[in-house]
Amino acid sequence: MNLPDLCVARDRKKVDINYINLDFDIKPIFKGKKYFLRTYGCQMNVHDSEEIKYYLEALGFQQGNCLEDADIVVLNTCAIRENAKDKVIGYLGRCKHLKKEKKDLIICLCGCLTELPNEVMSFKKNHSYVDIIIGTHNIYELPKLIAETKGFQNIEVYSNSDKVYENIKYKRDSKISAWINIAYGCDKFCTYCIVPMTRGRERSRKIEQILEEVAYLKKEGFQEITLLGQNVNAYGNDLNLGYDFATLLEKVALIGIPRVRFVTSHPWNFTDRMIDVIAKYDNIMPYIHLPLQSGSDEILRKMNRRYSRLQYKELFDMIKNKIKNVAVTTDIIVGFPGETEEDFQQTLELVQYCMFDGAYTFIFSPREGTLAANFEDEISLEEKEDRLKRLNEVVNKYSLLNNQKYVGQEVMVLVTGESEKGKDKVCGYTETFKLVNLIGDQSLIGKIVKVKIIDAKSFSLDGEVVKEALIA
Ligand code: SAH
Ligand code: SF4
Ligand code: F3S
Repeated sequence: MNLPDLCVARDRKKVDINYINLDFDIKPIFKGKKYFLRTYGCQMNVHDSEEIKYYLEALGFQQGNCLEDADIVVLNTCAIRENAKDKVIGYLGRCKHLKKEKKDLIICLCGCLTELPNEVMSFKKNHSYVDIIIGTHNIYELPKLIAETKGFQNIEVYSNSDKVYENIKYKRDSKISAWINIAYGCDKFCTYCIVPMTRGRERSRKIEQILEEVAYLKKEGFQEITLLGQNVNAYGNDLNLGYDFATLLEKVALIGIPRVRFVTSHPWNFTDRMIDVIAKYDNIMPYIHLPLQSGSDEILRKMNRRYSRLQYKELFDMIKNKIKNVAVTTDIIVGFPGETEEDFQQTLELVQYCMFDGAYTFIFSPREGTLAANFEDEISLEEKEDRLKRLNEVVNKYSLLNNQKYVGQEVMVLVTGESEKGKDKVCGYTETFKLVNLIGDQSLIGKIVKVKIIDAKSFSLDGEVVKEALIA
């Protein structure tokens, strides 16, 4: 896709990446003690928490069931919207209370909020009972800090990190489905977004290291992997080694894990070749999360999204035409500064055109340090909430319509765990990432089975196993 005329391209200097191999021993000096870890935010944090868990368990801690059980509590924070921050502050209140009774409790804050210097200052000033503050770039220092913890510690925040750590160890939550970081950070600087400040510049891992990790996960019996990055499809652009995301995706598919997924794709970095690769390999799942953010050209320009409404539509059509049965979901922000009712109508119109399988919808939340935080914002909260409500009605209508198309069909479902819908049920995902609840026992967990869909709701499907068909 070419850079649209309307784009306010911001030429950011590339960084020289340092690849660092992590290799150190951790002594289990906290044997018999318990940890409690809470994760806020996106898949990046979920995966970072798997690294944190590895360190905690290597130190000898065991996972506790609740905060009250814990000898150490770790909050892996998110800064994307004000309410993400509010949740952390609310929970910190509980931790503070507990520490009054349990003086040895270690409280640790990490994640995206603690990459922001002003937030760190405010934590130090207003929450001095917190023992450790660590950012997103130096999680590997956590074991050392915990072992040494005495009173308040603050670690430098590296918002401009140029490092890629290799050989990171994880305590993965699942033995079925695994996350793999392929790139860190983001260079897009959408004007509303704090992520480039909390995760630093875009840095791709080397292809050999990623493929090695995929091969290892295959050997370990994983049925599914998800390649992770803020813009997975910008992968490799910073390396100048002549390969891009399509090359990586194809090589990953060839390793032969039954299901390969990736999030998140930026429309601006979507190439034709990428679409061809997804269409070509059966084990690359036909599911694409393609954030739209707004359907208005004027708002897209103010957001620095680098594509126009028409370009999004053309890309969407090409994806739908070339990838069989593909499902597409999106992210949309309402109430961006200057968004008129007309702009909002354009968003609604595009949602109607695309008939998304699902959408995460948000009210714009100004983030200190981003450009849009200084844009004049004269839309009332009432109006923003009303737009969100109207948008959600349309989004939910199409989610349900898309789901209803599955009724009567037989689809392959990777069963991932017990269902919340009853003890006699398990749940899993279709290739198109639809959640399916089905009657069956735990022996199905970890298998890919053929399921007949018998009912559809807006956010899930109900099904019955047709025939157990174990793949791999
Ligand atoms: N890298 C991904 C998304 C990361 S954040 C991408 O570009 O698609 C996930 C979503 O949060 C974004 O897609 C956006 O819709 C939303 N978001 C980010 N900053 C926001 C803000 N300041 N206010 C409201 N929503 C925001
Ligand atoms: Fe944020 Fe934009 Fe980067 Fe996504 S692409 S992480 S929205 S700056
Ligand atoms: Fe993710 Fe929140 Fe950070 S959305 S990248 S955890 S700011």
